[in-house]
Amino acid sequence: MPLTASAFIATSLDGFIARPNGDIDWLDKMNQLVPTGEDAGYGAFIQTVDALVMGRNSFAKVLSFEFWPYQNLPVYVLSTKGVTIPDHLVGQAECCPLSLKELVKTLEDKGHKHVYVDGGMTIQSFIREGYLNEITLTTVPVLLGQGLPLFGTLPQDIPLTLVASKCYDFGFVQSKYRVREG
Ligand SMILES: NC(=O)c1ccc[n+]([C@@H]2O[C@H](COP(=O)([O-])OP(=O)(O)OC[C@H]3O[C@@H](n4cnc5c(N)ncnc54)[C@H](OP(=O)(O)O)[C@@H]3O)[C@@H](O)[C@H]2O)c1
Repeated sequence: MPLTASAFIATSLDGFIARPNGDIDWLDKMNQLVPTGEDAGYGAFIQTVDALVMGRNSFAKVLSFEFWPYQNLPVYVLSTKGVTIPDHLVGQAECCPLSLKELVKTLEDKGHKHVYVDGGMTIQSFIREGYLNEITLTTVPVLLGQGLPLFGTLPQDIPLTLVASKCYDFGFVQSKYRVREG
């Protein structure tokens, strides 16, 4: 069965996932609007994936958190420069200096069915090379003016189907899209 690759990510209204230096302080601040116990579908989403693929920058950011948020899920870190895997993640996280084609084949050979793709440049390369199947985009009501963009240039248009959309009364808007095949 072919691999499904999904992104689940939050952006500012002007389309940034982080400030130019990678900070997500704005997201932490806006998350204070979210009622206790509400996770905007994240918990349900993460239950459906069996591995993560993330870029080197996102991996570095997650390592700076107080706790590791992905339990025992295998994590494949994309990097050409290489990353140091901390001792507590050896055997769970690995650096993959692979092309996406090789990576997807490796993931399929390992039996993965649904991967969570994270990081702006990583999501962009999955989209560009035709490997992203779904994206759940949570738009947070703040303008940053500058930052790291979620989307980038493309060799051609990528038509999508809107699967679901939801407005939260705390102001977040979440839309799930499926990339149309063919
Ligand atoms: N708003 C949110 O929900 C959200 C979610 C996730 C992350 N973030 C933020 O986003 C920032 C990171 O995003 P980012 O756009 O900088 O990118 P990223 O995708 O996390 O990391 C980019 C790096 O990953 C490697 N990479 C990506 N695609 C590759 C490919 N196809 N082949 C080989 N290597 C590849 C490259 O590392 P090398 O240079 O080593 O080759 C590249 O420099 C962090 O600050 C994080 O906090 C926000």
